[in-house]
Amino acid sequence: RPANSLTLNNITYPTDSHTNIPANLPAYLAQGGLHLKPSHPLSTTRQTIESLFPASQYEVYNSLPPVVTVAENFDSLCFPADHPGRSRSDTYYVNRDTVLRTHTSAHQAEKFRAMSGTQKPGYLISADVYRRDAIDRSHYPVFHQMEGARVFPRGGAASGNYGDSGVAAEIMREVEAMEVPNLQVVESCALHEEPVNPVQLAEQHTPEQAEAVAKHLQRQLELVVSRVFGEAAAATGAGAAQEKLQVRWISGYFPFTSPSYELEVFWNNEWLEVLGCGVIRQDLLNRAGQGDKIGWAFGLGLERIAMLMYGIPDIRLFWSQDERFARQFRDGVVRRFEPFSRHPACYKDVTFWVPAAAATTAGEEFHENDFMEVLRGTGGDLVEDVKLIDKFIHPTTGRTSLCYRITYRSLERTLTNPEVDSLQDSFRAALQNKLGLELR
Ligand code: PHE
Repeated sequence: RPANSLTLNNITYPTDSHTNIPANLPAYLAQGGLHLKPSHPLSTTRQTIESLFPASQYEVYNSLPPVVTVAENFDSLCFPADHPGRSRSDTYYVNRDTVLRTHTSAHQAEKFRAMSGTQKPGYLISADVYRRDAIDRSHYPVFHQMEGARVFPRGGAASGNYGDSGVAAEIMREVEAMEVPNLQVVESCALHEEPVNPVQLAEQHTPEQAEAVAKHLQRQLELVVSRVFGEAAAATGAGAAQEKLQVRWISGYFPFTSPSYELEVFWNNEWLEVLGCGVIRQDLLNRAGQGDKIGWAFGLGLERIAMLMYGIPDIRLFWSQDERFARQFRDGVVRRFEPFSRHPACYKDVTFWVPAAAATTAGEEFHENDFMEVLRGTGGDLVEDVKLIDKFIHPTTGRTSLCYRITYRSLERTLTNPEVDSLQDSFRAALQNKLGLELR
């Protein structure tokens, strides 16, 4: 293939100075997402959650391709031009106009548009998503999200006056019909901001409507966590200290919802964030031809939930080819993961001077995610964790030195010393060659 192109799932894309897809990534795209792999815990987790949304109301999309435009992933969702999510240090760019989706929200605009055709007022999307990030037991450059949305008629479409109070009452009737077992909301934030975010007010959202939609959203998601954490408690014996699952609603921020919330669950003695959601920005619905609707959307990470449901301690396990992993799981069955024996870890430190901007190979500042990616390239799944353990500023030159500790550990076997030494040598060499770092 020509050097200035890249082929992903049989489609060839031109590359440019924005391209930052590492050589090991296309193989993950080719798998099409673990949420569809038979018997896989991510697939069962997806199905468990899907079962809580009536099929008559929610269209399900589970195989949308992962390569999307910058317009779909960011612009259509009102991400500001300087939002950090857009940076090359956080996002995988195929080229300047094309990315690997960083979230399932990349499909919102398209699927709102499709609603007129499907006639269903909601959808669910599960998919593999891609982000440049740290290395530890809960972060991996590929993970899976489920997104859902639901819209309601706003009334008054003919007159162009949407302040109809019957709309809120209609939505509240549905809310009252949803019963959530074994759950206690211990804390809640305001359902709408005061005044309702100007982008919503400008589109004639009344506080009553915004509140009714938010209530519906919260009730539906409380149903999801009540079921999922009930399964988790039954399978793993872990869980809530109280008889009822305790949850709290926290005010959040997403560029494409207003108001926005995060849902946290009290689990194993800590508050755990499980999802983000909110009332869909009306201008987004308007642009998708759904101006006569008002609605909500949420997004959650499937790995995080599956790790709790099955007691899976390390995100790398989801990708394991080891029979000892695969043979533990059956479609639709949630049970505690029996870890195979834990192999010893090996720690290696690396110390280097942070380059002055102009000195690096790429002519850019040092980004930690670049460091992580070089390490994923040389160490692959044998790297368990990376921590910054020391930062030092030279008193006279003012230069900064960083020291990172790398934990090497295989989930499947014991690593030998020469093997780890050689991995670390390749890593050091790559830091010099690829990032132009001056090692100490
Ligand atoms: N896409 C958001 C994320 O990845 C989650 C989200 C989805 C929030 C839909 C609001 C509505 O963090």
